[in-house]
Amino acid sequence: MKEKVRIIEVGPRDGLQNEKKALDQSVRIELIKKLVDAGIKRIEIGAFVSPQWVPQMAGSLDLTKQILRMQSQGQIAKDIKFSCLVPNVRGMEDALKSGIQEVAIFGACSETFSKKNINCSIAESFIRFRQVLEMAHYHKIKVRGYLSTAFGCPYEGRIDESRVIRLVKTMFKYGVYEVSIGDTVGVATPKQVESLLKKVKRVAPLNKIAMHFHDTRGTSLANVYASYNLGVRAFDTSVGGLGGCPYAKGASGNLATEDLVYMLKGMGIPLHADLEKLIGIKKWLEDKFERELPSRVGKAGIPKGFE
Ligand code: HMG
Ligand code: MG
Repeated sequence: MKEKVRIIEVGPRDGLQNEKKALDQSVRIELIKKLVDAGIKRIEIGAFVSPQWVPQMAGSLDLTKQILRMQSQGQIAKDIKFSCLVPNVRGMEDALKSGIQEVAIFGACSETFSKKNINCSIAESFIRFRQVLEMAHYHKIKVRGYLSTAFGCPYEGRIDESRVIRLVKTMFKYGVYEVSIGDTVGVATPKQVESLLKKVKRVAPLNKIAMHFHDTRGTSLANVYASYNLGVRAFDTSVGGLGGCPYAKGASGNLATEDLVYMLKGMGIPLHADLEKLIGIKKWLEDKFERELPSRVGKAGIPKGFE
């Protein structure tokens, strides 16, 4: 079965990076294996960033090596695609050591957030990205590009659409295969999403765009629906609704994977993801973090006749 919508599970990265408690390596690996077992095909498993900046992602090199070893030994299916974040050449060196076949650069649409998150201006970040892309392409590694704070920034407020369009164009010119447009602190509403995507469509086909919604204000499913209706077919989510960026004040969890799966299945869209198993992972994570996670479907369950 070919899936018509691509889910990119970012729980092991976005989901864990904002938690006070850093999970042990073995638990992070178990989480990834559980997601694979739940039918997820694309998973962002870590970040080759500074452990001083994001201690929760420390050890991503070793973790990636272990996951890829399991895959080469047949314990994880060959068709599962893994990726990791890379901010600079130093991170790309770790990516090469790990053997991963896909990385994601992450830029911002707001100068203040760029400075706070990766300690450089947008222009400087794109100089780094170009170097990362050159290395990646030389080694035949696919590169995805994130654009954070595309709708609003916790420090600068509403973001001008023309700035986002310019950065989307630059990312594709540099050679990323997909751009993920991020609502980092969950401010967007469907009209704003439609307005931006109609302009994005003039510079890039929407089947090369992914949407990355944080659900801070409860608008993420409505935003997915608006994006889907315009032709977007890739969405980033995090199991249980974990997530948030430690350098974006006020950011809360990503759209929960199980909430997206529930809605898309209800729309008749075929997916490999197993809702029961995803809800099981949410409960398992609640034990690890000793608190309730925000996913709605995880909380309410699957009603009779809606399986
Ligand atoms: P910096 O301090 O400016 O780095 O940090 P530097 O180049 O000055 O180097 C300082 C030290 O860090 C050096 O070590 C480097 O080797 C080391 P020393 O010589 O002092 O021993 N270093 C590194 N170590 C490991 N991995 C690296 C690396 N780079 C340098 N890659 C840096 C700049 C980019 C590294 C830092 O700001 C950083 O790691 N930032 C990451 C922040 C982050 O991960 N944020 C969360 C992800 S973004 C997000 O969540 C948004 C998203 O979900 C989309 C959305 O929601 O919209 C993607
Ligand atoms: Mg995010």
